[in-house]
Amino acid sequence: MAKIAVYPGSFDPITNGHIDVIKRASKVFDHLIVAVLVNDSKKSMFTLDERLDILKHSIENLDNVSFDSFSGLLVDYCKEKQLSAIVRGLRAISDFEFELQMAQMNRQLYDETETVFFTTSEQYSYLSSSLVKEVAKFGGKIDGLIPDYAIMKMKQKLSRGE
Ligand code: PNS
Repeated sequence: MAKIAVYPGSFDPITNGHIDVIKRASKVFDHLIVAVLVNDSKKSMFTLDERLDILKHSIENLDNVSFDSFSGLLVDYCKEKQLSAIVRGLRAISDFEFELQMAQMNRQLYDETETVFFTTSEQYSYLSSSLVKEVAKFGGKIDGLIPDYAIMKMKQKLSRGE
């Protein structure tokens, strides 16, 4: 049976650290679904459609990667799609506690899908979507941190005062 994994997240927007995890996870699993959380309560810079558009423009040459969105519990999505694994990236020790908690809660809710962690490459260990947004808001340089298409979309948004 094909091993299909999901890489869930807010991706507001995707960073080069996320792309690094996607590339590496796509080599380990037969298929990887990058799934964006639909989260109305969390204030995001980009809408769901914009986040998916940026994802699609940023990851073009990986045949076994597809894109989707989900709402509600991640484990329900895993059950519905009969997924083998949940992929998460670990940047630093500080990520570990929360990630462990989520993985254990998810396993307690549904133990047919395993959480698998990928350690991010060192050059991205400090990188997060929130930090990039903050730096961009104050005019700092964000080249090389997020894909060029995401930079263009972020600059458009900021220039419109959004
Ligand atoms: O990129 P993020 O914001 O760190 O991703 C967090 C995400 C989307 C993986 C997490 O918030 C999630 O799975 N949300 C869906 C709701 C859910 O299942 N919550 C229980 C998790 S233990």
